[in-house]
Amino acid sequence: MTVLVTGADGYVGWPTALRLARRLDERVVGVDNLARRDWVEDVGSVSAVPVDDPETRYAAEPNLSFVYADLADRDEVQQLLDVHEPHTVVHAAAQPSAPYSQINGERALYTQRNNLSMNVNLLHGLKDAGLDDTHFIETTTTGVYGAPEFPIPEGGATMENQGERDDVPFPAMGGSWYHVTKSFDNANARLANTQWDQPVSDLRTAIVYGTETDETEELGLPTRFDFDYYFGTVVNRFCAQAVAGYPLTVYGKGEQRKPMVGLRDTVESIATLVEDGHDGEGVDVYNQVTRPVAIVELAETIQEVGEEFDLDVEITHVENPREEDEEHQMEMENERFEELVGEPQSLEAGVRDVLTTLTRHRDRITAREDRFLPEVLLD
Ligand SMILES: NC(=O)c1ccc[n+]([C@@H]2O[C@H](COP(=O)([O-])OP(=O)(O)OC[C@H]3O[C@@H](n4cnc5c(N)ncnc54)[C@H](O)[C@@H]3O)[C@@H](O)[C@H]2O)c1
Repeated sequence: MTVLVTGADGYVGWPTALRLARRLDERVVGVDNLARRDWVEDVGSVSAVPVDDPETRYAAEPNLSFVYADLADRDEVQQLLDVHEPHTVVHAAAQPSAPYSQINGERALYTQRNNLSMNVNLLHGLKDAGLDDTHFIETTTTGVYGAPEFPIPEGGATMENQGERDDVPFPAMGGSWYHVTKSFDNANARLANTQWDQPVSDLRTAIVYGTETDETEELGLPTRFDFDYYFGTVVNRFCAQAVAGYPLTVYGKGEQRKPMVGLRDTVESIATLVEDGHDGEGVDVYNQVTRPVAIVELAETIQEVGEEFDLDVEITHVENPREEDEEHQMEMENERFEELVGEPQSLEAGVRDVLTTLTRHRDRITAREDRFLPEVLLD
């Protein structure tokens, strides 16, 4: 009995593989091509928290093992699935940065080829390996919904035209070349479900923040933590700015609400879903989100919690490098997700976690503080 975790060297993938190895009495195989380490180096940054190599990480638990493989390569994927015959695949591998995918056409194409190839290779690979009962759990993104004016459902939408109504999958509203790959992933996984009944769970992941989980803390094997413009998501980047004594750079008015979720709840929801399994009917969609938070509320929360760490946090507004409605009041349903995690961590507690870790690595952050903003805003 095996669970396969893709993207297992990544921010979410590593703590997820570790929790599964601790919780389940079966083999957990982590797969990654370590591309994220190269991308961050390419944009001139580092993980604020030094991370061990996969060999050290994966020696931590007897039922954990690591395979270096490029999942965009069809043969490598087929071999992995034929050899390990997983009953569940947690697909957390991706080029996950919207700004990186927006740099130019070459990065847009790389992102789309990489992400789409992995998804199709895994789905067809499962079919060809005779593993059409394997539970395919993919982490997509809440970004597939865009920013509509109505409360975002947990899954599809109801459309009305010429007096008739029907339930449809949500339209692909992603706002970057990266986000659109996740809409394709939703559609492809749905195809695998309709064509050969592959059990699929689609976790639409919000902006994740946090540094530790119980297992990474206990073993002293942390996950990576990026704070640069391309790979540092907003909560993590703001916390790094606070620790470096750099003003929190709110883009534009910052009144828009963005969906957020703590790393601890992200990992716990995936582990619960692996344990619970799939009921065999259709595609299950979960909005992996605690709540939408306005960017200014986030900055003020970091300012307040920062006082506990003697941080004098300043907030500044800079020109918005993104095309977005700076007042959008997003609402998002998440009942199914809440059932997976129970009581979620509060934003304040998550920020406290992050600041506790980052204050130990202040020098690594200040040495790269020119990476907080895109070049265009630094001129
Ligand atoms: N972190 C977030 O805020 C966030 C938000 C929304 C969605 N997500 C989604 O959650 C998942 C995990 O994201 P993350 O933050 O851990 O990203 P990450 O970059 O830290 O992890 C992804 C991992 O996938 C690996 N990978 C990429 N291409 C590969 C390939 N061709 N073959 C093998 N491995 C490959 C990378 O090396 C990396 O270690 C992704 O699907 C991402 O799109 C994350």
